[in-house]
Amino acid sequence: MFGKKKETPQIDKEQLELIETAQKRIKQKKRLYAHFVVFLIGAVFLIVANLVLNIGKDVTFLGIDWFVFAILAWLFLFVYHLFNVFVTSKMLSKKWEEKQLNKLVEKQKERIAQLQQQVEKDYPLSTEKKKTITSSKNSEITLIVAAGENDAIGKDNQLIWHLSDDLKRFKELTNGHHIIMGRKTFESFPKPLPNRTHIVISRQDNYQVPSGVILVNNLEDAFDAAKADKQPFVIGGGEIYKQAMPYADKIELTRVHEDFEADTFFPKIDTTIWKESQNRYHAKDEKHQHAFSFITYIRQ
Ligand SMILES: NC(=O)c1ccc[n+]([C@@H]2O[C@H](COP(=O)([O-])OP(=O)(O)OC[C@H]3O[C@@H](n4cnc5c(N)ncnc54)[C@H](OP(=O)(O)O)[C@@H]3O)[C@@H](O)[C@H]2O)c1
Repeated sequence: MFGKKKETPQIDKEQLELIETAQKRIKQKKRLYAHFVVFLIGAVFLIVANLVLNIGKDVTFLGIDWFVFAILAWLFLFVYHLFNVFVTSKMLSKKWEEKQLNKLVEKQKERIAQLQQQVEKDYPLSTEKKKTITSSKNSEITLIVAAGENDAIGKDNQLIWHLSDDLKRFKELTNGHHIIMGRKTFESFPKPLPNRTHIVISRQDNYQVPSGVILVNNLEDAFDAAKADKQPFVIGGGEIYKQAMPYADKIELTRVHEDFEADTFFPKIDTTIWKESQNRYHAKDEKHQHAFSFITYIRQ
């Protein structure tokens, strides 16, 4: 009852197919060989029939005895048979079919990849998806920036304009908050701004900052260092705005209504993501060389 189960030899499907194909090929070759033998005997018989037994002795075409044409016709059939066995059958074997199918699939895959690339190029998906940082889930990360119509924000590590009402607004909004900035922007200040916690991002481990200024090595650590603040501000420059944009909830933009020559730019604001919630125009006057607007964008 609990005796050892009798083992039956197992052959997998692929091996079985190989054996079947081999058997088929052997049969085809045997038939070809038989054909060859019959052809030889037949050819001798035709020669004997015509030349020895004088069958159709007077039948000639173009002065050539009929048996020559008969043998040639048979030879043609034999060559056709030979071709079938060694070329056609081999080509149309299962393996060949699979190979062709794989080639076709590869071609289709290539075509699909090309189409995908084309679609991505023609209809680019917005790359700016909101990323969340665990440490800043309860904060409203705000980018604050002044940019020209062409998104210019700086040149030679300096601002391009002096707009006193813009600076006033910057001071009011950021007062008492954490301000996150790249090393270059930090270096563009004569000294740290009063009543704000400065967080400077640099890849340099031994970068020296004045006491009270927090140095971090990446953006995530910067947000982490500002986690006690309900509204930390990212104040630039170009590199940091670009990296911080996907994490931001709000943009306080001062749009300066001119194009400027610059070496640093603010990233394009995708209006499918960012909705304007406030817009206040400020005309050009004796204190302000350019007209500008204070615009607030909220992430949708
Ligand atoms: N118009 C405006 O509102 C406004 C505001 C701010 C700044 N700006 C202007 O913007 C320009 C400066 O911008 P910028 O793009 O040249 O420089 P930036 O963004 O201020 O600073 C770039 C530096 O930040 C550090 N950094 C960047 N990404 C980092 C990362 N992922 N991890 C660690 N460190 C990182 C690197 O410092 P290390 O090289 O030390 O590693 C890098 O060289 C100036 O012209 C400035 O006046 C304009």
